[in-house]
Amino acid sequence: MTDHCFVAGSPISHSRSPMIHGFWMAEQGLDARYDRIETTPDQLGGLLARVRSGELRGGNLTVPLKEAVIPHLDDLTPEAAVMGAVNTIWMKDGRLTGANTDVDGFFEHLGQQLPDRSCTGRDVLVLGAGGAARAIIHGLMRRGAASVTIANRSAARTDALVSSLAASHRGTSTRLKRATWPVAADQIAVHAMVVNTTSLGMKGQPPLPIDWPARVDGQVFYDIVYAPLVTPFLAEARARGGLVVDGLGMLLHQAALAFGHWFGTVPRVGSELRALVEADLVAPAPADRP
Ligand code: ATR
Repeated sequence: MTDHCFVAGSPISHSRSPMIHGFWMAEQGLDARYDRIETTPDQLGGLLARVRSGELRGGNLTVPLKEAVIPHLDDLTPEAAVMGAVNTIWMKDGRLTGANTDVDGFFEHLGQQLPDRSCTGRDVLVLGAGGAARAIIHGLMRRGAASVTIANRSAARTDALVSSLAASHRGTSTRLKRATWPVAADQIAVHAMVVNTTSLGMKGQPPLPIDWPARVDGQVFYDIVYAPLVTPFLAEARARGGLVVDGLGMLLHQAALAFGHWFGTVPRVGSELRALVEADLVAPAPADRP
């Protein structure tokens, strides 16, 4: 029987997950398919019933289902529980299980791109204070970053995030700090790694408001935005001597980890797949993706 996997959310036509998972299914010679399933929160119950029955092997969830699914699940991985968001579901030992592979995908990609640049013991500046920032800061704290400084347009949101992270990571050795917005040159200069978690710099959005120092040699700049692949943030950093990490690798690695939950082996993220997705990113968007 063909194994049927999916990505669900609304809207969903933009998702590149079918291309990514389809590549690995073909590479491994699996009798499997992966489809987009347009699903609103009202339709979530029906979708989950199809996973429980075995009709669907497993899937990815995106906006607006990542939080809404949690009350319906039997089990959550510890990561997903701390983040309060799920991007991968499947039946594990007869129980509907939710995981979040975004954070591990973020760090897998960093490790592959810059193996000697672990965040352990480093000072990291995080731009943004939304759900993506929360997830990545959680990962930085678990990996023993010396400090995480948050800069966000809304200072109230920064304060709320710092309080909630401090409460959920009692006993952490990572110091949590706040910086001003727009981002000052001296803030960029003193951090080993700067991560953009906002949507600024994405196609159609203004660039990040940063006052750049003249040089950023050897510092790491990581953008979770992947369209365009080289955001203004990464272009500015690279021009000043920074080491840059783009968001496409995170997308591919979180997908690989999800695939591993469904099929038992985590596929390799190789250059052929990356080139395929890169080509699709620069292709004109089809009016209506199937
Ligand atoms: P996600 O879950 O993807 O992180 P989110 O929770 O909506 O999405 O967070 C979006 C982040 O991008 C926030 O840090 C937001 O800043 P505010 O908290 O001040 O809203 C930031 N962001 C989005 N648009 C922005 C803009 N035009 N200028 C500055 N920051 C922006």
